[in-house]
Amino acid sequence: MAFEIDRVRGAYPALAEGYVHFDGAAGTLVAGPVSDAIAATLRAAVGNRTTVFAPGRRAGEIVAAARAAVADLVGAAPEGVVFGSSATALTYTVSRALSATWRPGDEVVVSRLDHDANVRPWVQAAERVGAVVRWAEFDPETGALPTEAFDRVIGPRTRLVAVTAASNAIGTRPDVATIAALARAAGALSYVDGVHATAHLPTDVVALGADFYVTSAYKWSGPHLAACVAAPSTWDSLRPDKLVPSPDAVPERFEFGTLSFELLAGVTAAVDHLAGLDATAAGTRRERVLASMSAAHAYTGDLFARLTDGLRAIDGVTLLPAPKGGCPTVSFRVAGEAAERTATRLGDRDICVFAGDYYAYEYFRRTGGPAVRASLYHYNTADDVERLLAALSS
Ligand SMILES: Cc1ncc(COP(=O)(O)O)c(C=O)c1O
Repeated sequence: MAFEIDRVRGAYPALAEGYVHFDGAAGTLVAGPVSDAIAATLRAAVGNRTTVFAPGRRAGEIVAAARAAVADLVGAAPEGVVFGSSATALTYTVSRALSATWRPGDEVVVSRLDHDANVRPWVQAAERVGAVVRWAEFDPETGALPTEAFDRVIGPRTRLVAVTAASNAIGTRPDVATIAALARAAGALSYVDGVHATAHLPTDVVALGADFYVTSAYKWSGPHLAACVAAPSTWDSLRPDKLVPSPDAVPERFEFGTLSFELLAGVTAAVDHLAGLDATAAGTRRERVLASMSAAHAYTGDLFARLTDGLRAIDGVTLLPAPKGGCPTVSFRVAGEAAERTATRLGDRDICVFAGDYYAYEYFRRTGGPAVRASLYHYNTADDVERLLAALSS
């Protein structure tokens, strides 16, 4: 396992602008090969998908390559990868298709730790059909979202359990495999928000036992495009509203209108880039992705310990509680200063942090409102951490 930070940083042209980026949870910088692939696709003769002329075949090849790439990233079947404009849009699509089979009195489980993108689509779908929403509560003292919180509310009428693989506010990683198993034992499906987690961890959707897993490429060095992954047979069991002449086969049945071929080329380039983070990784792209994501995780883990230790040592800075072993994302508040003001103060020094609720709406409603978020990505350095700590101390 090798993580050569200078080589890794060299792959992100935007780092040359000199900003210190602790805003990866809101969207990372794009890797150079990604923007190259997008530009090359836009410059090339790429038609709409068809097999009867070469530029049309090229479009089909771009889509197939992107499905294979996402499949390698998360350990899925390429035929189970559905693309959409965002995780939010995809979750709405799936919630509409799934809830068409729900009946009044059926139950849906959502958590108060999740980003609202994995809450509201389910709550609104439930309300439309008269299904009951049951809430899995996190522990505000520890920031954990324990399995028991789901065990308590999953029952014989549960149709869907929505849970995050990692909190975008405090990094907590619930035990998704056990929660998905609880859902399955109750005859329910699980929908896992992997938007935050995929950026930081090796992902294996089969080991997670997730029926659906959604991820957004702009959180892992790619373009603004998302994918939802499920077994082809799971997709095949659902019938979304769609145009009559558009393909009825899976996964195309869930992709509406013409896909963005240039962004899909960027998605493939992003996965290839991630696979190369560990220069010593060998084997298939899937194997290299797993090795590289492990190396990146170890690298940011050490940096994160430095960041959180440093934050704790600053007078007046309070960290929102989070269990150990999460993703490298922390939320904090500075005594006597609004979160927005802290973030502006840091922004004035070219240090990029987010302030607010970052759409972890239910979580912040229960934990005292807005905070500041510093999220590490694998291009951050010890020097970045020192700059943030020094700016906060001053
Ligand atoms: C954990 C999590 N889930 C979902 C989303 C929504 O993703 P998208 O912007 O692709 O809809 C975000 C975006 O910040 C997120 O952090």
